[in-house]
Amino acid sequence: MPSVEDIDLTDWGFWRRPPDERHAAFRILRYEPGLIRFEEPDIIIAPKGPGYYALTRHADVVEASRRPQDFCSGKGAISIPDMPGDMHEYFGSLISMDDPRHAKIRRIVSRAFSPRMIQRFEDQVEAVAGGLAERLGADGTGDFVADVAARLPLKIICDMMGIGAEHYRAVLEATNVILAGNDAEFLPTGDVEQHALALLTAGQTLKDLVEEIGRERRRDPADDLISALVNANIDGESLTDQELGSFFILLVVAGNETTRNAIAHGLDLFTREPAQRALLTAGFDARMPGAVEEIVRYVSPVIWMRRTVTRDTMLNDHEVKEGDKLLLYYGSANRDETVFTEPERFDILRDPNPHVGFGGPGPHFCLGAHLARREITVMFRELLRRHPGIRADGEPERLESNFINGIKRLPYAL
Ligand code: HEM
Repeated sequence: MPSVEDIDLTDWGFWRRPPDERHAAFRILRYEPGLIRFEEPDIIIAPKGPGYYALTRHADVVEASRRPQDFCSGKGAISIPDMPGDMHEYFGSLISMDDPRHAKIRRIVSRAFSPRMIQRFEDQVEAVAGGLAERLGADGTGDFVADVAARLPLKIICDMMGIGAEHYRAVLEATNVILAGNDAEFLPTGDVEQHALALLTAGQTLKDLVEEIGRERRRDPADDLISALVNANIDGESLTDQELGSFFILLVVAGNETTRNAIAHGLDLFTREPAQRALLTAGFDARMPGAVEEIVRYVSPVIWMRRTVTRDTMLNDHEVKEGDKLLLYYGSANRDETVFTEPERFDILRDPNPHVGFGGPGPHFCLGAHLARREITVMFRELLRRHPGIRADGEPERLESNFINGIKRLPYAL
């Protein structure tokens, strides 16, 4: 059992350790009094900052999420160093903004992601998921991520945006690079400058794409999100090109890289836990909503988000100072034994399940949560209906990342 001094969340070695060992380390951090500070990574392209506090307890993650005036998202909610200017150009969208700008921009798209609108998309999600499940029958084995888990969210978010099928591959490759973490399969991880260049190039690819489609939609609007974005008028102002580009990048990255992992981990979990699977199939419609929440709790596809303290204040019992950086570790909060009974158990009947996998309560709560829930539900319904025996047929190949709990490949058999 490691001691607190042995745990370094900044060290990539920590994130290469098996999930059980990482969960055990977070358990130690949760029981340690106060907040634990970690050194920031030395990334050369940005000045090394003062370090960050890891929020590992559920109550602290919830509190930091619900007080955006004291714990802001600007400066870089998705990066530990403050985001350098050129990165901000591509990745400084909604998620790294504060009100009033945040609220204004969120309003433009929030309607498109409301439960009512997602309901309208139901037929399409069903048709795509059904088609993917149907095609699996051909040879009965393969890579579940490539054949299923990556495809559904990609097609749905591209359809919502109005991006044609000819661009799917480029979108997927770019979003893979952007959330590759430290995985050498997608990024030159040994060379900081090349690493940054690859990220910027992926951002530029997506920005070029939205600008091209945006020009068409300004001339000839369609019933899609890019048309809504380019023709949006927020109190007399429209989105700048930079805002359009970075918002688009956020939506396709968030739309793709999270739900995919929830679906892939879902198959892995239902293979490891046959009793839970039997429970599900014995009453799919009644039990799937709870199962989706439990998958998101158990897996926590997004590992952390950052906040910055805006004034000297208290965060629950802890004193924090203006400028302190806080990392909200969702996966740890979701296994906090003061909130969840037997948190290590995957239990689709868990009730209540106040997980923070989609973020804590507050203005940044995941915009795509309803969509993600529908995608996961419909995908498993179509899979289990057509292939009741489908199972993971080997260990998942994991993404090396401290930010996304990703599966790159998962062999399956029918
Ligand atoms: C299982 C799937 C998903 C998980 C676990 C997830 C998780 C999260 C988390 C943890 C946050 C940050 C909350 C915060 O900072 O307080 C977030 C924000 C966000 N998510 Fe998701 N997400 C998922 C699917 C999606 C999908 C499908 C979309 C659709 C496009 C999406 C779009 C967004 C956006 C735009 C934000 C930023 C919201 C804001 O700052 O106002 N997400 N998500």
